[in-house]
Amino acid sequence: MNDNLLWYKNAIFYELYVRAFNDSRGDGHGDLRGVVEKLDYVKELGVDCIWLLPIYPSPLEDDGYDIADYYGVHADYGTIEDFKALVNAAHERDIRVIADLVLNHTSDQHPWFQAARAGRNSKYRDYYVWSDTKDKYQDVRIIFLDTEESNWTWDETAGQYFWHRFYSSQPDLNYDNPQVHAEMFKVMKFWLDLGIDGFRADAVPYLYEREGTNCENLPETHAFLKKLRAFMDKYYPGRILLCEANQWPEDVRPYFGDGDEFHMGFHFPVMPRIYMAIRSGDGTPVIDILNRTPTIPDNCQWCTFLRNHDELTLEMVTEEERQWMWQEYAPEPRMRLNLGIRRRLAPLLDNDRRKIELANSLLFTLPGVPIVYYGDEIGMGDNVWLSDRNGVRTPMQWDASPNAGFSKADGDLYAPVIDDAVFGYQKVNVEVQRADSDSLYHTIKAMIAAKKQSAALQNGDFFWVEGDGNKSILAYLRSADKDSVLVVQNLSADEQVLTLKLPAGVPEKLKDILSEKEISVSGDSGLSLTLQPFEYLWLQI
Ligand code: GLC
Repeated sequence: MNDNLLWYKNAIFYELYVRAFNDSRGDGHGDLRGVVEKLDYVKELGVDCIWLLPIYPSPLEDDGYDIADYYGVHADYGTIEDFKALVNAAHERDIRVIADLVLNHTSDQHPWFQAARAGRNSKYRDYYVWSDTKDKYQDVRIIFLDTEESNWTWDETAGQYFWHRFYSSQPDLNYDNPQVHAEMFKVMKFWLDLGIDGFRADAVPYLYEREGTNCENLPETHAFLKKLRAFMDKYYPGRILLCEANQWPEDVRPYFGDGDEFHMGFHFPVMPRIYMAIRSGDGTPVIDILNRTPTIPDNCQWCTFLRNHDELTLEMVTEEERQWMWQEYAPEPRMRLNLGIRRRLAPLLDNDRRKIELANSLLFTLPGVPIVYYGDEIGMGDNVWLSDRNGVRTPMQWDASPNAGFSKADGDLYAPVIDDAVFGYQKVNVEVQRADSDSLYHTIKAMIAAKKQSAALQNGDFFWVEGDGNKSILAYLRSADKDSVLVVQNLSADEQVLTLKLPAGVPEKLKDILSEKEISVSGDSGLSLTLQPFEYLWLQI
């Protein structure tokens, strides 16, 4: 495996839901051995690192983000031995593996919580946050708005209220207790010793509670996270921490510290703005949010994404923008969840190949490294009739055989495969798309390959390029040492004719990296172009 300590700065990530990926045992649930069988597929796509959604023992009230045992594997997924086999098989293929580190809370079924609620004198009581009243921390928002009425829930056995930022089945751990810190270091050590390459740290803004604040992004939280990082650097250099902080760019910035906190952070706010730009044909939201994004230390990287396993979150937009997004992208109430939209990429973009490619063009060329959500590379659909976020977590569609080639089970699968006329597995599947060189799969694969070959697209500096003041055009230059790429994108459904002002010394002919099409630069006025609806060009300079 490449031993560059900064490997994550230009890696391609893939978010993989083990339950949905491939069922090796025929019980209707995807499992770790099943993932091993499909690693060659992941490799072929060009992925450098997979992020596994939680695989730990859990009552699955929040699909595994409610952990009942930090040191095991859920029986549906296999065993610790299977996990090791997966890590080894991935490493043999030069693919890294990161897993979720759920710091903020456990399941209420976790033995710590069971002991804590059972006795005030238990040493575990203080692992959680208790109160006799619901009065504390009134300034704190509720995240799971559709189901939770309060961040406090009364526990009959304990005779007190406990604090939780997510479902009431997920009591928050008490980070004022140093024992909790020690437990988390132990958890990290356990998985790192099994060979994983890092963690996607879940819900980190919420670790501490302080009266009079919104209990997010507190200085105490950063101090603790810096300790996690120091531990990783000391004992596991080259392994990474990826931050899930769904916050404004200026509030995510401190999670990178001076390059001594997180290696990577998701860029949440840019994501909905990509959808806004494509729907409105106006790049302003993307421009504004990137201009508002602070620079980060050299050893850090943003992680960009179009969709993930959660609802498309609209927390980091204004109220007006949220209403507009709901109206445009979630016309039916059942498409909405909390402050978001529970749909997948392809259905959101009307299954319009041009828009799907354009969104991916932004994903692969904006600053940061991309993470692809499983199934989006073939344009999978969703099932809005399933509850919670399950509609975007349906089985991977491998081929047109029964159960989409995902499972040999006779009985029910953990969730039905998508079977409708547009997105059904009979039509939308890996086998069909691999065989068709014009498929979305091949386009995404080509975009990944192009990004990996271009120093400019990986880590190049970023400059906006002026396009006649035409708001439908989003153009920028990425440039590193000797490599420069000019990205020009038409966000609108109309043809656009424009002239771009180019820096001096640009050659007379530019080549689109993806199509190999040549474009002539006309005189000194700049580059005159005609872009088709939703067309994008990655021009090598
Ligand atoms: C994160 C996860 C989400 C989960 C929540 C609580 O936001 O992405 O799926 O429900 O944390 O753990």
